[in-house]
Amino acid sequence: MLRSQEFSQEPPPAGRIEDSVLMESSHQPRGRIGILTAGGDCAGLNAVIAGIVKYGISVGYECFGFEKGFEGVLSPILMRPLTLDVVRGISHLGGTILHSTNRGRFGAKKGEGESASIPSEVLDEAEHNLKSLGIDALIVIGGDGSLSGALQLAGRGIKIIGVPKTIDNDLAATDQTFGFSTAQAVAVEAIDRVHTTATSHDRVIFVEVMGRHTGWIALKAGLAGGADAILCPEFAFDIEELVRFLRERKRSTTRSAIVVVAEGATIAGEHVLDDITAGMEVHFGGIAERIRREIEVRAPGEFEMRSTILGHMQRGGTPNARDRNLAKAYGVGAIDALLAGEDKVMVSLRDGAILRVPMEKAVSRLKTVDETTLEYQTARKLEVFIH
Ligand code: F6P
Repeated sequence: MLRSQEFSQEPPPAGRIEDSVLMESSHQPRGRIGILTAGGDCAGLNAVIAGIVKYGISVGYECFGFEKGFEGVLSPILMRPLTLDVVRGISHLGGTILHSTNRGRFGAKKGEGESASIPSEVLDEAEHNLKSLGIDALIVIGGDGSLSGALQLAGRGIKIIGVPKTIDNDLAATDQTFGFSTAQAVAVEAIDRVHTTATSHDRVIFVEVMGRHTGWIALKAGLAGGADAILCPEFAFDIEELVRFLRERKRSTTRSAIVVVAEGATIAGEHVLDDITAGMEVHFGGIAERIRREIEVRAPGEFEMRSTILGHMQRGGTPNARDRNLAKAYGVGAIDALLAGEDKVMVSLRDGAILRVPMEKAVSRLKTVDETTLEYQTARKLEVFIH
């Protein structure tokens, strides 16, 4: 990896393609691409990087990776060449070889639908560094926060292409973000495991899953895992109604219950967001335990209850086949976007095809669960508590 000092002593002249990289490509040199992974990590990041680099080199691009998201673009620059050797055998690995951060000087997201301006001196510095490194295009692999930040760098002579990443699956401009499928599978497996112990002890177990302001993981994993109640942020629920539901369950032949709780779930009439803020974004976590305690207050000793938070387990580990393939397709799609001369677009999945959507549109709207969502309707008809 090149660190700033090393780099400032001998920056590669803009536009010059390293011989070693040129030899890897059978095409005319096209330019120099920077790649970064920003925001919270998820399964599939390495498969995107590999897809970009393998296809990019094959059509004549020289690829460089910036480390720790946008931090690597700012001084001290953290950059390294990405060759075929570097990306060989990484697609099945979780995490990101480029490291990531959801903090730092490029933080653009404050909360749902909001974004903050990145200071102009930070944008100037990023532009200066990228231009002096000869970077023609930056491929930003990130969620709505990172893509909002990237957008503020657009229009400065460096093309920006976005790749939609997040386990939350909350970007309206794509049918699916990569990372979601694996997170969902991890949650289903955990729910399956919790079921057996809940049954053995006739307990109510609250399983908290991630998702920020949306309930995609909770709903889809909850339905697949046979949850008895699913609490999504999109539908504030009445805690008294939940108590009544649990009482009925206790009277039935199956006395245990699994309640899957999205981390952003809201009790009707209450503001339950954790007010600890991490960086610029609200930090979620702990709602399942809060609900458990609230029920204990309202129905003392009636239920034996436990709560568990799946947390970062949903983000870590090996990507499943769906995420690997989607990630590779997005990586290839990002290069196709550059070949087509695009700028400020995000690659998106629509009805099984990779399309490109304006980044501005991509970050403007969250995709949320609603009454028309298939899994929601299915859950209602199967008498799952979901409101
Ligand atoms: O946005 C992805 C996500 O995993 C959310 O589901 C979760 O609320 C958040 O990131 C956790 O972030 P951190 O890595 O800061 O704990």
